[in-house]
Amino acid sequence: MFQVTFIEVESGKRTTVQVDPARYPYHDHGLPGSLLDIAMGHHIHIEHACGGNCACTTCHVIIKKGDDHLSDQTDREEDLLDKAPGLTLHSRLACRAIVESGDVEVEIPAHTVHVVKSGGSHE
Ligand code: FES
Repeated sequence: MFQVTFIEVESGKRTTVQVDPARYPYHDHGLPGSLLDIAMGHHIHIEHACGGNCACTTCHVIIKKGDDHLSDQTDREEDLLDKAPGLTLHSRLACRAIVESGDVEVEIPAHTVHVVKSGGSHE
């Protein structure tokens, strides 16, 4: 069992959930056991405009603790992250980063939500 803590920057809300890899997937978005899968399966909202298919950057999150406990980044994830607003050295796409080997603490940036809202108003 691993512990995953989600910190929603906009509201300051912290939610910690226990996850069991034997129970992956928790939901139906993103890779089974990904941060998006775990969040959605526990009623924590992370934007995922492409449906968790590694084709956007709206699920961008920042890993505060436990980078080493996540699956490795693919080239595709790296390429997409390069376009993510507010990119940091600890950025990941929530639909790709699978919790594999230990506890993780994840920040859900407020700007992710804002980008989606302002993006929609241009069209
Ligand atoms: S939801 Fe689109 S890349 Fe993760």
